[in-house]
Amino acid sequence: MKLENLVKKQIKNLPVYETGKPIEYVAREFGLDPDGILKMASNENPLGPSPKALEAVSKRLKDLNFYPDGGCYELRCKLAKKWNLSPAQFAFGNGSNEILEFVAQCFVGEGDETVFGAQSFIVYKLATIFMGGKCVSVPMPGMKYDLDAMRDAVTEKTKIVFMTNPNNPTGCVLKQSEVENFVRSLPESVVFCYDEAYTEYQDEQVDLRPLIAEGRNVICLRTFSKIYGLAGLRIGYSYSSEEFAGYINRAREPFNVNSLAQAGAIAALDDDEFVAESKRINSEGRKQFVEAFEKLGLEYFSDGANFVMVKVHDAPNAFVQMQKNGVIVRPNVGYGLPDWLRITIGKPEQNDRCIGELSKIAK
Ligand SMILES: Cc1ncc(COP(=O)(O)O)c(C=O)c1O
Repeated sequence: MKLENLVKKQIKNLPVYETGKPIEYVAREFGLDPDGILKMASNENPLGPSPKALEAVSKRLKDLNFYPDGGCYELRCKLAKKWNLSPAQFAFGNGSNEILEFVAQCFVGEGDETVFGAQSFIVYKLATIFMGGKCVSVPMPGMKYDLDAMRDAVTEKTKIVFMTNPNNPTGCVLKQSEVENFVRSLPESVVFCYDEAYTEYQDEQVDLRPLIAEGRNVICLRTFSKIYGLAGLRIGYSYSSEEFAGYINRAREPFNVNSLAQAGAIAALDDDEFVAESKRINSEGRKQFVEAFEKLGLEYFSDGANFVMVKVHDAPNAFVQMQKNGVIVRPNVGYGLPDWLRITIGKPEQNDRCIGELSKIAK
């Protein structure tokens, strides 16, 4: 029998996640020197990895013959102290992306629904479809969450509400009271999956630990890919009730987080200087982009996180033109925003170069 008749229907129809275009691809495609290419497409940290993490990773290289600690004991204990939670409340993933998939695997079955913002991280959709679930994506007028509409979209079929704050790709930000009231308005039968990938870039961070302590079905996800600059190591974590973390643990393979990632993450948690500098450079860069967009008369969004969104005429063409000159940004066609580019905020000179390219195409 043909394989296509054997594969599950939802897998056949699953869209493939399109990553930010790697530097090497652009170099090959346009015949450019990779060293001269600037990638501002995947919300990576322009300062590189946390130096403390880099040192710790180098020291662990000699132990690569051993399997990693499947339970991430040292990292778990360190995080428990940092967040004043118990070690058993944490779970770890090969990136927080993997934990998003575990959450869907644990709670979504055929015909179940998940609710999320229409212009919110696309993995919520992919993880749902993979499990045979149905996506209920709620319009985001003005690129912002419509919390009433999200609440109204919840039915007895809803298993998970996904939310990321600040949102990717629109950057919109919700306050503590808004998130908290929203979670309290959800029926107890719904899991709230709160994705904090960019939260460290905010001065005021939402804290859902009190809701977890109250016994709400809430799981919060964090990553080392953004402010700690460790996207290539692939490590993220969740905190929730111990029971919830126990289910996530059952979904994972025994050694899903490698030893270098664990060592890097443990060290990065102590790299306050790097985190502060990453945050500083990000807010300076945001100002730089906003000023330029104003000057160029371009529509933009720049609320939170480490990226900005800008509206340009014919964004897919702009994406290609910018690559020809060695600048990679991210088109947003997959989010139903064909006129918008998402740009990761870089160092001042990188931002200048990107703004220079934008001003050529904005003419
Ligand atoms: C909102 C959001 N959540 C989760 C992730 C996944 O991050 P990682 O798997 O690198 O931890 C990303 C990556 O860009 C993201 O934008």
